[in-house]
Amino acid sequence: MSTTETKQKSIWRHLGPIIRKYWVRYLCGILILAAVDISQTIIPGITATVIDDLSSFTATAHTLLVALLQISALVAGITVGRYFWRFLIWGSARYLEQEVRDNLFAKYLELSADFHDVHKTGDLMALVTNDLEAVRQSLGDGLLMISDFFIMTTFTLIAMLRFNRSLTLLALIPLALIALIVTRAGPLVFKLFKRVQDAFSALTDYVEEAMTGMRIIKVFTREKDAARGLRAKAMDLQRRDIRLIKVWGLAGPLIDFLGAISVLVLLWYGGILATRGTFTIGGLVAFNTYIGMLAWPMTALGQAINLFQRGQASAARINEILDQSSTIQELPGAAPIERELRGDIVFEHVTFEREGHKILDDVSFHIASGERIGVIGPIGSGKTTIVSLLTRAYDPSAGKVLVDGVDVRQYRLKDLRRAIGVVTQDVFLFSDSLEENINVTDLPVSEKEIGEATKQSDIYNNISEFKDEFGTIVGERGVTLSGGEKQRVTIARAFLKKPRILVLDDALSAVDADTEKHILDNIAGFKSRPTTIVISNRISALRQMDRVLVLNAGRVAEEGTHGALLRKHGWYWRVFRRQLVEHKVEKE
Ligand SMILES: Nc1ncnc2c1ncn2[C@@H]1O[C@H](COP(=O)(O)OP(=O)(O)OP(=O)(O)O)[C@@H](O)[C@H]1O
Ligand SMILES: [Mg+2]
Repeated sequence: MSTTETKQKSIWRHLGPIIRKYWVRYLCGILILAAVDISQTIIPGITATVIDDLSSFTATAHTLLVALLQISALVAGITVGRYFWRFLIWGSARYLEQEVRDNLFAKYLELSADFHDVHKTGDLMALVTNDLEAVRQSLGDGLLMISDFFIMTTFTLIAMLRFNRSLTLLALIPLALIALIVTRAGPLVFKLFKRVQDAFSALTDYVEEAMTGMRIIKVFTREKDAARGLRAKAMDLQRRDIRLIKVWGLAGPLIDFLGAISVLVLLWYGGILATRGTFTIGGLVAFNTYIGMLAWPMTALGQAINLFQRGQASAARINEILDQSSTIQELPGAAPIERELRGDIVFEHVTFEREGHKILDDVSFHIASGERIGVIGPIGSGKTTIVSLLTRAYDPSAGKVLVDGVDVRQYRLKDLRRAIGVVTQDVFLFSDSLEENINVTDLPVSEKEIGEATKQSDIYNNISEFKDEFGTIVGERGVTLSGGEKQRVTIARAFLKKPRILVLDDALSAVDADTEKHILDNIAGFKSRPTTIVISNRISALRQMDRVLVLNAGRVAEEGTHGALLRKHGWYWRVFRRQLVEHKVEKE
């Protein structure tokens, strides 16, 4: 998509429908804000009358009481009104933020692996935090300030003009300068602020990565470097913060200075008028208040512009993500699976390309329902990719993957993935209890079934020895478990699903040979006889399989039973001989 095309698309395309839901609240909020502003401009008028009456000795107890009551009523109204506009405008912005966050997160969940391959976690996190906050602020504070600017300026000016025209115009000159400074400094402040934000996210990224890699840092004794790295990032943030303060710190006093000039103009010219008898003391006092009241909307204008610019930049980033659609789509007419799948798998001339590189190259094979297949091959030969295509993390660039004779694209994703149980090569545990980590399905599962699955994956006894048994919390990403324990927990997770197709991707690497045999025997004993794919580089695991596929550089190099492959005297046979020797050495 070209940038011009993106630009032409409305910034409101995703926000608009959500804002529309809350427009009544927004409108009520702004109307109340207007009422509050008008009330504020009335009070100095009343005060002026009281002062003038007092100085000309025409005030009575009655007129004073009336003025007092009027002011009290207005102040009470202003207080209540302020509460409600805050509630309505800020509240709506919060609702809005929540909805956009829900939509964004749903998008993250929907988008397929290729999206997540290229987007950094830190960036995706920033979108649902910082960027979303910027959007919320522009639609809360920003909207509020801009409304306040227009309403407050208009009504204060009307009130001032009714007192004295020439004085109003004179006093306005310094205030107009404030508006000029603020709107001019705005873009610079925006730029500096953005740089602060960038440095801040770099810092958080760094801390996050350091915490995740804490074990590596310690074991390679890189603490000093890690601390130095943090210091560099923090210094950078500090430098940028200071730059921002320098600009903003200058603007603030300058604004106050110009406000004071306005008051000086008032005293000078208003004083002359007063001595001539064309202006009253009450008028002078009221004007002083009005000037004070105008200074805020001028600054608010600048801040509002600032907030809108930030909000716009963030909304654009959010929109870009919300515009995306998953490359993994169900074909139209994908129907729910009526009966259980049999688990018959066919790869038909499957090629999978990434950046011009063929990761799988014209791969074809057939795995019959209930068959147990071993897959072996050098590092990076495409073993895991086969699983990714089967579960539709990706779709092939050419060729077809069929399950039970039907293209996998014709199944509903949910049904397809429910039928396949995968133990991934990278073990992932949530920082939750063991039970929650094993039972990740949305189907009702009994305690007995969890017990069974953990026995079959040979982890039941270990868990029983833990203090809290199945309630044991495993720490972030399972740090409190050993590698072998983690692996077996994830195997139990796949077993519990009772899948029609079971895939173990290098899932036995951290367990000893006896446990490996035990678990494989258990799978062989499953009454449901799932189609089983065991990816492993250990011949001891593969020799128990019905058939073995040997992958090399994205192609099926050899294929056959363990015995047949040995007779071929090819790559498989060589690996077998090497492992036999290693095994013997181990025994000695
Ligand atoms: N999402 C991806 N984008 C680009 N290249 C990828 C992607 N996934 C894998 N690759 C590359 O494809 C090749 C095959 O990867 P794959 O994970 O299938 O290998 P493997 O046979 O499972 O290796 P291992 O034995 O190390 O697990 C590798 O060279 C890898 O770098
Ligand atoms: Mg792999």
